[in-house]
Amino acid sequence: MKNSSVRSFQILPSVLAADSGKLVAEAQTVDVPEIKYLHIDVMDGHFVPNLTMGPAVVKSLKKHTRFKLDVHLMVTNPAELIPLFAEAGADILTIHQEADLHIHRQLDFIKKFNIKSGISLNPATPLESIAWILSEVDLVLLMSVNPGFGGQKFIPLTLEKIKKLHELRQKENGRFIIEVDGGIDAKNVSTLFAAGTDYFVIGTGIFQFSDRPKAIREIIHSINHDQIRSI
Ligand code: DX5
Ligand code: ZN
Repeated sequence: MKNSSVRSFQILPSVLAADSGKLVAEAQTVDVPEIKYLHIDVMDGHFVPNLTMGPAVVKSLKKHTRFKLDVHLMVTNPAELIPLFAEAGADILTIHQEADLHIHRQLDFIKKFNIKSGISLNPATPLESIAWILSEVDLVLLMSVNPGFGGQKFIPLTLEKIKKLHELRQKENGRFIIEVDGGIDAKNVSTLFAAGTDYFVIGTGIFQFSDRPKAIREIIHSINHDQIRSI
């Protein structure tokens, strides 16, 4: 959403909250002009206590939809999976800081596939743990729930973390995107936007409704409405 007087943002529907028996059809229910990305949660049952979709699902969504794919690897040992998801069609590939001892090496590896790299932090992981790679990544994904499941409540301490990361970005003239993931809906999205969030991952806040375009419009409206009021 571009408007010269206000900051742009993206809403990224998280397909974890969709009916996984008909993912392409579900993706088509959010095919409105404002949506550029789908968020794909990859879980290996080790890094998080859940098991979800693999590269074949990414390949199929890439083939059958127009969306760019924001792939969130909640996996230990991401190095093995980076090539598979890059080749399957990921446009953004995000790994967890907590999942690998050599995150600078893994982020470099992602970039070798000419796709955007992201680093994610669980709610308790300090921003300082990624201080030295902020200039290297395209995106920082702050978890606002403990990863593994959709439909959880937003963790309030995340708000302060978003503000701190936004301040850090402004201070260092950083160019990374701030993405937030988990428990976001039309009620809290404008507060998160004001705190500095650019990309909003929303699963239940969209897919729980039968009229998804309406749910997306309400989310966008609540950001724009508060933004215009704040100018
Ligand atoms: C949780 C996932 C999130 C989740 C968001 O581990 O990373 O992307 O799907 O879903 P909601 O919006 O339902 O919290
Ligand atoms: Zn996610």
